[in-house]
Amino acid sequence: MTPLNPNWTELKKEPFAQYIPDEILQYRSDEIERILAWAKENPLSLPAEVEIGSNRGCFLLGLARKRETTVLGIELKESLCKISARKLANEGLDNGHVIHADAKLALPVLFKPGTLDAIYVLFPDPWWKRRHARRRLLDDSFFEMAHAFLKPGGFFVLKTDVLDYFDAVEEYLKASPCFEMADITEVPGQDKWTKSTRERHCLEDGLPYKQLAVRNIADADTTVMPKGTVTEKKLAKHNYRYHPEG
Ligand SMILES: C[S@@+](CC[C@H](N)C(=O)[O-])C[C@H]1O[C@@H](n2cnc3c(N)ncnc32)[C@H](O)[C@@H]1O
Repeated sequence: MTPLNPNWTELKKEPFAQYIPDEILQYRSDEIERILAWAKENPLSLPAEVEIGSNRGCFLLGLARKRETTVLGIELKESLCKISARKLANEGLDNGHVIHADAKLALPVLFKPGTLDAIYVLFPDPWWKRRHARRRLLDDSFFEMAHAFLKPGGFFVLKTDVLDYFDAVEEYLKASPCFEMADITEVPGQDKWTKSTRERHCLEDGLPYKQLAVRNIADADTTVMPKGTVTEKKLAKHNYRYHPEG
């Protein structure tokens, strides 16, 4: 385990600390400080949209080409961030950014609550095994954060070929007072979206996938949010095939 960072008590005073559990503030404060340093060098203006798990930037690039919003890709793998950043730079898309970070830390550190136009999660890692399920990106705490950081009327968009994951998320969102189901065509700029790497592989290989969009509801009663429904679900590999390129 990373040694306890003595600066964590300083981080605890920051507004974002209410969205990050104390044990994470203590043991991952170096990562948080790195995100703060990145933010100083890369001021982000509003309106803004975020893609979590932006991978090689194939979808991110399409968002940035609209040039209507600031677009941020948050990606855990540094090598993939470099690829996306190079693509954005090659097209001169200075409204597009990529940060190498865990989205669950970066989102609350980089943005103020109630400010994001949209959060996109395309083909999130399924973490099939029950003992790994708690590593899934989309869980109760993720949706609490998405609700807090999306503006009223902002959109959360999901695409996935793990159909049980989709069903678990859809069930959660339908039961949540914080979101209302929307038609994906209602998401601004949807007609200009480009395909992510995994989406392209699904189309090439004829693999089924699903997509949904929900609208964030202002002043929702968060005390009645559903609990545990997404990470408790065992995901089956119906028609699922790994692609050699990931
Ligand atoms: C299965 S891939 C899908 C990539 C891409 N969205 C696509 O549709 O082709 C999942 C991606 O999410 C990234 N990822 C997983 N958890 C993350 C997190 N907590 N924060 C940021 N990126 C994450 C992974 O590194 C990986 O690039």
